[in-house]
Amino acid sequence: MNHSHPAADVSWWRTAVVYQVYPRSFSDSNADGIGDIEGLRSRLPYLADLGIDAIWLSPFYPSPLADGGYDIADYRDVDSRLGCLADFDALTHDAHGLAIKIIVDIVPNHTSERHPWFEQALRAAPGSAARDRYIFRDGTGPDGKDPPSDWRSHFGGSAWDQIPDGQWYCHLFTREQPDLNWGNEEVRQYFVNTLRFWANRGVDGFRIDVAHSLAKDLSEPLRSQPHLDSQLPLDGTDPLYDREEVHTIYEEWRKVFDEYDPPRMAVAETWHPTSSRTYRYARPTELGQVFDFSLLKCSWDRDQLIGVIRRSIEDHRDAGGGLTWVLSSHDEPRHPSRFALPADVRPEAWLAGNGASPTIDPKMAKRRGRAATLMMLALPGSAYLYQGEELGLLEVADLPVESLQDPTWERSGGVLKGRDGCRVPLPWTRAGSSFGFGGNGSWLPQPDGFGDDSVEAQDGIGGSCLEMYKEALRLRKKLQTRDDTLDWLNTEDGDVLHFRRSNGWECVVNFSGTLKPLPHGTVLISSQPLHPLGIPGDSTLWTRRDP
Ligand code: NOJ
Ligand code: CA
Repeated sequence: MNHSHPAADVSWWRTAVVYQVYPRSFSDSNADGIGDIEGLRSRLPYLADLGIDAIWLSPFYPSPLADGGYDIADYRDVDSRLGCLADFDALTHDAHGLAIKIIVDIVPNHTSERHPWFEQALRAAPGSAARDRYIFRDGTGPDGKDPPSDWRSHFGGSAWDQIPDGQWYCHLFTREQPDLNWGNEEVRQYFVNTLRFWANRGVDGFRIDVAHSLAKDLSEPLRSQPHLDSQLPLDGTDPLYDREEVHTIYEEWRKVFDEYDPPRMAVAETWHPTSSRTYRYARPTELGQVFDFSLLKCSWDRDQLIGVIRRSIEDHRDAGGGLTWVLSSHDEPRHPSRFALPADVRPEAWLAGNGASPTIDPKMAKRRGRAATLMMLALPGSAYLYQGEELGLLEVADLPVESLQDPTWERSGGVLKGRDGCRVPLPWTRAGSSFGFGGNGSWLPQPDGFGDDSVEAQDGIGGSCLEMYKEALRLRKKLQTRDDTLDWLNTEDGDVLHFRRSNGWECVVNFSGTLKPLPHGTVLISSQPLHPLGIPGDSTLWTRRDP
């Protein structure tokens, strides 16, 4: 089954708007409180109307859910709570019928502890072939009672756990997510064949989870890396991240993507302090695209935003791959809420206080969220949206702790609330059980008043956030060009971010609380109701100069 489109634009992804679906939270077709593939399929007309080019589907594979599905027990099946392979095929078929591409998530750094390989490894002896697929080591210290190294898990605690026979295994995430050994040829082959499995079913691309972590330096003695996130700058010498050898894996994968017509696309998830190393994953000989999270790490600050945009454009050009932008995802507090926080308040700290210190002004948050989105959509390259941002949803910062599912909560000893607040199931209707998400509640509680932000409350309503997204995506289809040169205008005004694209399209953001002069030309879209005398504060306009 090869759904190839011979006349298709093989570089569609370079300017695509990709919409991330976190399947358990999107739409529930059978009233069990969990979103599923059939629920998503039933909402495809909504996504077509929104105007997206592709869906990136977070993991839907069989999973014990130790990390929201990023712990996979079978890479080539659908979790029975979410559907079956036939449902997936129907989804791909219908999406293609609506000109929507499908991108699936590949998680190659670790499996679930319930993957048959790990179960075999536990039963097998130290030094066996089954153990070599993972990273098993003897302990250190008297009787091997201490872990093999000081590596820490991202979710807190040591990255090593001991099994009954005394050996330890490495897990950079939860203990239920044992890391694979990418020095093992069988592991490499398994993933190459998994890519083919999904490409043969017609998927158009792949999102690669923690793509920069696969090639670890496992030479003895294991090198120290006690601060996983603060070992900066990454320059290729870190024992765990962004090692030069990792690129050979993606060069191999590129050959697999190019077996297909059109070639399958891929986007890497990597976390780097610099975009110059980030964009190496996007080289045309590797994945083609990599997430650029630089906007996502900014406060609502004009100079910071201009700085990262300039740098990313330059750095992506050097690598020759695609340029990408992201404001929200299933891993981060939603961007309208983030941009309403004072620059010195870290989102994690704000969440830890249930969103109460400081409280944010929801109107201001929504204004900034819309302004940021219009700015992102005017940039060259591809943009990734996260489900529900088109509704202007805010982070649900006050989820009761007993409802939290993210392993971050437990592993941080109840300090960090984690990522559930952006994973709350979507509101489709103003009222009713789970606001139309499903017929019978939802796996995370939705806040009172969620229905006011629902699709039903916004669809067809002039001035709503949803209508702004639709209009912006419609205009962008006509305006977006692959020429990535930007002219910065008005740079002397410290409250304004203003650029012109090579085809005469302009975007201006007003960061101040006062009106700013309207640029010359015709206004194409505005993130706030237009004011005759100027651009309102916290808002973005697109304009085009009259010839
Ligand atoms: C990145 C994913 O986006 C995140 O949700 C997950 O927890 C980690 N990788 C581990 O797979
Ligand atoms: Ca369901």
